[in-house]
Amino acid sequence: MSGKPDKVRVAVVFGGRSAEHSISCVSAGSVMAALDPERYEVVPVGIATDGRWVLADPDQRLAITDGKLPEVVGGTAVSLVGDPAGRGLAVLEPSAAVGPALTEVDVVFPVLHGAYGEDGTIQGLLEMAGLPYVGSGVFASAASMDKEFTKKLLAAAGLPQGEHVVLRDAAGAVSADPALLDDAARERLGLPVFVKPARAGSSIGITRVTDWAQFPAAVAEAAAVDPKVLVEAAVPGREIECGVLAGPDGRPQASLPAEIRLRPGVDWYDFAAKYLDDAADFDIPAALSPGQTEAVQEAARRAYLALDCRGLARVDFFLGTAPDGSDRLVINEVNTMPGFTPISMFARMWAATGVDFADLVDRLVTGALDGGSRAAR
Ligand SMILES: Nc1ncnc2c1ncn2[C@@H]1O[C@H](COP(=O)(O)OP(=O)(O)O)[C@@H](O)[C@H]1O
Ligand SMILES: [Mg+2]
Repeated sequence: MSGKPDKVRVAVVFGGRSAEHSISCVSAGSVMAALDPERYEVVPVGIATDGRWVLADPDQRLAITDGKLPEVVGGTAVSLVGDPAGRGLAVLEPSAAVGPALTEVDVVFPVLHGAYGEDGTIQGLLEMAGLPYVGSGVFASAASMDKEFTKKLLAAAGLPQGEHVVLRDAAGAVSADPALLDDAARERLGLPVFVKPARAGSSIGITRVTDWAQFPAAVAEAAAVDPKVLVEAAVPGREIECGVLAGPDGRPQASLPAEIRLRPGVDWYDFAAKYLDDAADFDIPAALSPGQTEAVQEAARRAYLALDCRGLARVDFFLGTAPDGSDRLVINEVNTMPGFTPISMFARMWAATGVDFADLVDRLVTGALDGGSRAAR
């Protein structure tokens, strides 16, 4: 792994300990393939499901092959050097192929979704190590991962939120009081409600509850993922997404929005609808009036700023109708490291806006190098 000083060394970190391990591997495979080999040298760093860091085989096929999801399996064990002077990775098992020397890294692209990746934890590690990285910092990552605090910060910025209740220590609460919510709260929320783990993704642990009799089981299921559980009133409306990318000046730019149209009989965008079935149609761009498009883009940029995001984000909305007949736009959530393959919504929205996949990856890496990590600034 001799350094080529003329090329920028990008460590692409993928896999990880969250339920979205395989999705991350697929995203990383696409990112690595899109990095121009003339300008970038890729250091593929896999995190196994048990948390071990390994130098991955650069030729491993990180894609869904014959319906099988990719996974980080083995490789030379490495560790991030906490001392900023180290600037990169230490090889833990020196061998003939990989010497004991540090693998220097110029910039890190953490293509990780969910816990220990999109939630501020790896961002903190990279800050400590003094390495610049793609995407949001510690605070924005943690705040966007936590649906309670996302709502608080968006509301403080004047971006409307649906009715919701936060249950703390929900697992304990289920056994203490199977009713969980008083009548007034139930009245206010109405049915259906969405019961969700506060910090999760890919619809894992979420139940759409149509009868209060299902409620304790739904809370228990969410609490198995995260002890903090949100109970949200169902927000009627179309599901709209919008990509945000930092411009050369660091200011957020919004893509053309897209719409996820669930097929008849599909009530909501659950895990199966997202990854397994042909459950949805995607309109990219969404069929919206120019005014609606502008309103979505403006709200997406404001959400990015409200959460102090950096680099990129995907902002997800419900577009419904207010009692007076006007549009009602509610932000559902903000993803700081959205699914990142050429067929992911984020990439397709930017392609429709005129930024192709290789440009997207290049803009993010260049932006991270220009901005540097907080520690390096
Ligand atoms: N309050 C809500 N009203 C209506 N539909 C909802 C609501 N919350 C979630 N959903 C449905 O559930 C899906 C997943 O919820 P979301 O909060 O986006 O979780 P995740 O972070 O796992 O993607 C949404 O895409 C939407 O289809
Ligand atoms: Mg979502």
